[in-house]
Amino acid sequence: MRLKDKTIIVTGASSGIGAAAARLFAQEGANVVLGARRADTLREIAGEIEASGGHAACAAGDVGDPSVASALVDTAMAQFGGMNGAFNNAGMVGDMGPVTDMTDQTWSDVIQTNLTSAFLAARAQIPALVKRGGGALVFTGSFVGVSNGGMPGMAAYAASKAGLVGLVQSLAIDWAGQGIRVNAVLPGGTRTAMAGDDPDTIDFVAGLHPMKRLANPEEIARAALFLLSDEASFVTGAPLIADGGMSVRML
Ligand SMILES: NC(=O)c1ccc[n+]([C@@H]2O[C@H](COP(=O)([O-])OP(=O)(O)OC[C@H]3O[C@@H](n4cnc5c(N)ncnc54)[C@H](OP(=O)(O)O)[C@@H]3O)[C@@H](O)[C@H]2O)c1
Repeated sequence: MRLKDKTIIVTGASSGIGAAAARLFAQEGANVVLGARRADTLREIAGEIEASGGHAACAAGDVGDPSVASALVDTAMAQFGGMNGAFNNAGMVGDMGPVTDMTDQTWSDVIQTNLTSAFLAARAQIPALVKRGGGALVFTGSFVGVSNGGMPGMAAYAASKAGLVGLVQSLAIDWAGQGIRVNAVLPGGTRTAMAGDDPDTIDFVAGLHPMKRLANPEEIARAALFLLSDEASFVTGAPLIADGGMSVRML
């Protein structure tokens, strides 16, 4: 029960890593506030968590919208009386390809969803954490943007995820004195909808990892759990790489 009686916002909770994290955090005693665009799916997952004896609420919407960032915090306040942390995890890859073919729309959608959303989340969440005397924020980055690892055609995605690490480090410094820890988990390839189900692509991406496989979403959720829990009480500003060795592989 490493999150006993804590209230944690989880975005991207309708699928993959976020859905696994929502279930795991609830098992660890947290009240979870679920965010993503698919309201029906969020309600289903919240229902499952409640049926297992946990506590969950939802606030559906686009993480790139400032009012959605506020709605998630307001839901935590209204349903659970405040918040202790967040796993800001929603993200998208966007159309992949060389930058010479990239549209303005692809660039701005990816930056808005992966990076601007993180700024909006932090701006909405930090005052609620200050009110509680501290807390923990975790953002989902990626090995892409730190090491790339040989993944082609991901310029906007890599830029958004590299920018996220800079944001996390800056937030960590600015808010350490108020008892707020801010970290990132950087997954390697993970078996979710984002990775797709094409066996050739999965084999290619798995082969890039020294461990020769993709992560299960639960393995990434456990890394986020550590960063959110008091076990990580002296960890802040850290990009925690959970990538099966991808970032240290020998080329
Ligand atoms: N899978 C990988 O190999 C991998 C590797 C490294 C990093 N990551 C990162 O891990 C995070 C989770 O991805 P995943 O692998 O779990 O993929 P996923 O299964 O596709 O889940 C993505 C989640 O983000 C939500 N989302 C996407 N755009 C959104 C938006 N504009 N507003 C609100 N929610 C939005 C989706 O929900 P809705 O569609 O319902 O909005 C969904 O819940 C992402 O940040 C991703 O970049 C993934």
